[in-house]
Amino acid sequence: MNISANIEKTGLTKEQIEAYRPAVSDALDRLWSGNEPMTGWVTLPVNRNQEELNTIQEIADIIKDEAELLVVIGIGGSYMGAKAAIEALPKDASGIEVRFLGNNLCTDYYWETLQEIKEKNTILCVISKSGNTMEVRTAFEVVKPIMVEKYGSVAEASKRILAITDEETGTLRAEVSEYGYSSLVVPSDVGGRYSIGTPVGLLPMAVSGIDIIAFLDGARECANDAGWDHDLADYAIARHLLEKEGKSVEVFGLCHSRLFYLGEWMKQLFGESEGKEGKGLMPTSLTYSTDLHSMGQYLQEGRQIFTETLMVVDEPSVSIEIPGGPQKGKTVADINNAMIGGVISAHRQAGIPITELHIQKLDTRTFGQLIYYLETTCAITAMLNGVDPFNQPGVEAYKKEMHRLLD
Ligand code: PA5
Repeated sequence: MNISANIEKTGLTKEQIEAYRPAVSDALDRLWSGNEPMTGWVTLPVNRNQEELNTIQEIADIIKDEAELLVVIGIGGSYMGAKAAIEALPKDASGIEVRFLGNNLCTDYYWETLQEIKEKNTILCVISKSGNTMEVRTAFEVVKPIMVEKYGSVAEASKRILAITDEETGTLRAEVSEYGYSSLVVPSDVGGRYSIGTPVGLLPMAVSGIDIIAFLDGARECANDAGWDHDLADYAIARHLLEKEGKSVEVFGLCHSRLFYLGEWMKQLFGESEGKEGKGLMPTSLTYSTDLHSMGQYLQEGRQIFTETLMVVDEPSVSIEIPGGPQKGKTVADINNAMIGGVISAHRQAGIPITELHIQKLDTRTFGQLIYYLETTCAITAMLNGVDPFNQPGVEAYKKEMHRLLD
């Protein structure tokens, strides 16, 4: 495993952690039992559907051959995982541009995307498990006529539309039958924010030139390693205990710029899985060292509501030496490491408990491990907190109000 958590600087004792091991063991048994709803993601990288993977790769290869641009329409779990992977990972030369739409309702962003669609040979991939999400429906309805105009007819446009949705239910599945779009399935037992290892994440990743088999291999390595004594259990327990000790916010300190959207994905994963029944650490992410020059002040001297998880990539892919000045001969990575050491020491002095989450290197296999590691950690902490990690009743509230206002 290329991922490890060090909770020594949280101030928690070994005895406190050990006391929760049986509860973690129970949680892992439940996750792996096959009897808990929405836990299909747990075994996904281990019991692979090879036929489906071949189909995903074949469709991705066709898209790469035929198009210059893939526009992915989706929001939440139907957007964030692929976006995080595409921003973080190396790609081969066959990959094409992937642009996302439907993840916001900004008219100006729509306009820019529509111009790109008009200019470039485009395939549209609409992703929605429910098929009914307002942001996604809005984007799809805006783009469809532009595709029809560009490609000459509904039939020609439909050949360039791929839908990823529930196998049977929802408006999008009905449209697949009506217009003959190509389609892939979001498994019914995998929720949006846990769906990166399904066609939802894999198809856009493959089109961008990411090796999806390496990604799944990494996830499987973590799955095979996730015993009760693994250090992800320590991290999950620490998160539970730190909240019990009064911390209310978990800051993910991202010490690598390519992890920015992973931070966004983590906010969704942890926030939507744990923030319920008045419980859960509020997840937020900061990019270091950029945000040390802004939010660093609040962390150091503001209200002490934080626990901090530093996401550290140990081996940069290249080495850059500083050619002059007082740090001459050191590398940029040396300065980054000194920054991380400085953060640990200063924030500890301010009373912030710190977990170090080490990512050996930012390659695709390690990223697969990391995703599975974080999903499992999140599910375990939620279960220790006594909440269901796989529902999101609170998200419905704004949707109901939005529909009421539109009606
Ligand atoms: O994690 C979740 O379930 C949500 O964030 C969904 O992914 C999000 O609301 C989008 O839903 P859908 O895929 O049904 O359009």
